[in-house]
Amino acid sequence: MIALPDFPWDRLAPYQELARAHPGGIVDLSVGTPVDPVPPVARQALSAAADSPGYPLTYGTPRLREAAAGWLRRRHGVVVDPADVLPTIGTKELVAWLPTLLGVRPGERVVFPALAYPTYDVGARLAGAEPYATDGLLSLGPERVPLVWVNSPSNPTGRVLPAEHLRKVVAWARERGAVVASDECYIELGWEDEPLSVLHPDVCEGSHEGLLAVHSLSKRSNLAGYRAGFVAGDPRLVRRLLEVRKHAGMIVPAPVQAAMTAALDDDAHADEQRERYARRRAVLRPALERAGWRVEHSEAGLYLWAANGEDCWDQVRALASRGILVAPGEFYGDAGRGHVRVAITATDERVDAAVSRLQ
Ligand SMILES: Cc1ncc(COP(=O)(O)O)c(C=O)c1O
Repeated sequence: MIALPDFPWDRLAPYQELARAHPGGIVDLSVGTPVDPVPPVARQALSAAADSPGYPLTYGTPRLREAAAGWLRRRHGVVVDPADVLPTIGTKELVAWLPTLLGVRPGERVVFPALAYPTYDVGARLAGAEPYATDGLLSLGPERVPLVWVNSPSNPTGRVLPAEHLRKVVAWARERGAVVASDECYIELGWEDEPLSVLHPDVCEGSHEGLLAVHSLSKRSNLAGYRAGFVAGDPRLVRRLLEVRKHAGMIVPAPVQAAMTAALDDDAHADEQRERYARRRAVLRPALERAGWRVEHSEAGLYLWAANGEDCWDQVRALASRGILVAPGEFYGDAGRGHVRVAITATDERVDAAVSRLQ
């Protein structure tokens, strides 16, 4: 049996109970799940494609791959051939299976940030490889590694990696023949900084060799419930992923492919959603600060990375006693022991309730 970490959310259950007992009800800021409606453009496209009796293409429809390439060009200054785009069933599955799909071997180290979304670690383990959490690639010395994950804007810290940093990671990886997988699911949610894709010419210097950018529609388009994402980049790697995924039946349902196409073609709904999050962030951040928390990084994305000098579990308890549930930083790595992650994904009404409880 592969040794997987305990599913950390179970450890939050007692604090969830405590927060639920608040007379005004719980304000759940512990997970980054969308709470606003699925945009009508996506719903209409989904229902128009409801009569889809045949098997969909693992590669995705040509229209979907064009829409993804069009969105990357329009919004992120990235030029990819639609042939080098591959839809995924949300991106968590790709994060969890990428090392396996790329043929990472047992004993090899898969590198990811010291504070990170836990699925990078899980993906390494599923391949029988060694998870290696670090922010300093130099600590690997001359060792060759097959895969390095970057995540900008970061979950949980909201940190944005500058072009210079990303360029160094790419150069380091290319020297060693490592693949760089860049998880960019929060790329449209820059607040105080402009996130850049690993495929942007300022980072990759015009070549996508060895690079994969992973994009989710969960946050941008409130499509977490549809399971909608894609990967784009190095043609050779995309081709390899397509081949294995075809054999393994990792196929995005046809109505979801249609909904993704419509969502990627449309920016108005994404701008509207961004505005909702901007407003929630603008009231929650100062409320936390007035209540004694310091907010670090958080320049982008859906989280406030906050600390008040206490252990993360004490902070979780203090907030839960006010009916506010947040995630302990420890879920994302040992370096998070002094922090909590506060999601801005709750309705305006619930966010306002949290703000008044923090006073
Ligand atoms: C950093 C990061 N990557 C990937 C995902 C997975 O998103 P999805 O599977 O909904 O595309 C999440 C979800 O919160 C995330 O925070």
